[in-house]
Amino acid sequence: MAEKTLFSSDEIAGRVAELGAEISSYFRNRPLTAVTVMTGGICFAADLIRQINLPLWVDYISASSYRGTQSCGEVCIKAKPELDCTGRHILLIDDIIDSGFTLNCLVEYFKKLDAAEVKSCVLLDKASARQKNGLCAADWTGFKVPDAFVVGYGLDCDEEFRNSADIRLMTD
Ligand code: IMP
Ligand code: MG
Repeated sequence: MAEKTLFSSDEIAGRVAELGAEISSYFRNRPLTAVTVMTGGICFAADLIRQINLPLWVDYISASSYRGTQSCGEVCIKAKPELDCTGRHILLIDDIIDSGFTLNCLVEYFKKLDAAEVKSCVLLDKASARQKNGLCAADWTGFKVPDAFVVGYGLDCDEEFRNSADIRLMTD
């Protein structure tokens, strides 16, 4: 498989700064807890939280629904958050929405932990796949992407490519 650049590191940085400003403005009067969805959200979350101009708590949850390039249709929570989420204003940060299943499950998971509020931010949204399932978008989205497999900036293909600074489309 070959790869083609979809978003350069400069384009990503510009969009992350815009998202950080919007999120800062929304959470201005709410104590914010940023929860990264590991492992794919690692690069995006590291950059995004530094663009949020507010004090915040940081935690993570480890979840996955993919093996290779296929969703296995089941969200597996491999590590739970450390913090007690009761009454917290949570911002879930993930790399990408494909079917929408993972993010929707995680929003419900945090609501069941009695969070005061659960918002979500994803860098990429495969809108056509998500809409087919009738699932909601994240509250903040960086870019819409085609319904194809992408890697880099945290996103992997069988654990490869996570450390690419840009986001690439896998092509045959
Ligand atoms: P969903 O549950 O189908 O929305 O899948 C979301 C999760 O699958 C994301 O958090 C990613 O970790 C992974 N994923 C979905 N599409 C891609 C992709 O194109 N490249 C890499 N990982 C992906
Ligand atoms: Mg993921």
